[in-house]
Amino acid sequence: MITPHGGELIQKIAGHKEANEFLNRSSHLPSIVLDAWALSDLELIATGAFSPLTGFMNEQDYQNVLRNMRLSNGTVWTIPITLNITSEEAAKLKTGSEVGLKGRDGNLYGILQLEEKFKYDKHLEANHVYGTEDLNHPGVQKIFNKGDTYLAGPIYLLKRPSHSPFEAYFNDPIEIRKAIQDRGWQTIAGFQTRNPIHRAHEYIQKIALEMVDGLLIHPLIGETKKDDIPAEIRMQSYEALIDGYYPKERVKLSVYPAAMRYAGPREAVFHSIVRKNYGCTHFIVGRDHAGVGHYYGTYDAQKIFGNFCKDEIGINILKFEHSFYCTICESMCTLKTCPHEKEAHLYLSGTKVREMLRNGEYPPKEFSRPEVVKILMDGLSQNAQ
Ligand code: ADX
Repeated sequence: MITPHGGELIQKIAGHKEANEFLNRSSHLPSIVLDAWALSDLELIATGAFSPLTGFMNEQDYQNVLRNMRLSNGTVWTIPITLNITSEEAAKLKTGSEVGLKGRDGNLYGILQLEEKFKYDKHLEANHVYGTEDLNHPGVQKIFNKGDTYLAGPIYLLKRPSHSPFEAYFNDPIEIRKAIQDRGWQTIAGFQTRNPIHRAHEYIQKIALEMVDGLLIHPLIGETKKDDIPAEIRMQSYEALIDGYYPKERVKLSVYPAAMRYAGPREAVFHSIVRKNYGCTHFIVGRDHAGVGHYYGTYDAQKIFGNFCKDEIGINILKFEHSFYCTICESMCTLKTCPHEKEAHLYLSGTKVREMLRNGEYPPKEFSRPEVVKILMDGLSQNAQ
């Protein structure tokens, strides 16, 4: 089984006894309320998905991640994992003490051992992580809407957040690792997506499946931007597709509960490291991975891996060209495999497909399987009612 990032799968879920002790103390502790994004980060740290992190980043790690794409001990890490609050709220908390981490529902989900509070430069973070300060970028918008102070320190998860309606597909890294072992897979390709699976996705997944033993379809179900297709609808489309077109014994569908950052290249590295923690040996990076709008070049998310040695990333990156349907080849292709003029190539952007669906137009079967289109149409029209 592949070694987790940094060497060890972090486990920060309080046992029954510890949780009770924390809970007894918690009535005397100050607490803060986490938004959905921070709550999902808390759980992902606790389950080891974000190994080797054991808590929210301190200033030294944070600065290193921004400037060098590494933690302060040199381990590759490209996305800050931070807990923000306003400076007024922060002033009420003492470093060296424990802070209760509550959800918006009032439940206590975790404890932070507060080691440090620090202010940060929003412009610097936006430029380093997203490569832009443009407020139209959803990640940049988030930065400028959040509190100006970060709290840092190790965490413990006391209570699992609700995973409804995805319980059946919710697995911690340790469970995915076990499932991989049980199936006897030696090589596993991880596939990140925040979209329905269209023919291009299916094409690159199946090429990967020609090379590895198993495929982990790992759709992100945390916070996404408003116009992305809701996760509930996407899940139905994944089920239908696997049912009709995939060898079931070679595919595992499970959800990845993180928030989407839209950080393009940096998020591609982050996604690959996290999937290594889930037990994948390979990770698929196609065109404009984790991109949004026109902020990143088509292959920037592949090129960024050139900054690191293979051993530092520790998972094999399967890089794919922009794929499309060619009406002359009558198959999916890329520019590497198709000799025809671009007039024969069918490309549809995610934005274009969403627009078509909302106007009641069916994207062609060369772009998306009819079963998937039907689920998306039905789901979106129900959502609109
Ligand atoms: S992402 O934001 O989660 O990366 P998406 O769900 O669109 O977006 O993509 C999932 C994976 O498929 C990414 O690795 C992406 O690069 C890849 N991909 C999407 N469309 C294509 C395409 N037409 N050709 C090649 N790779 C693609």
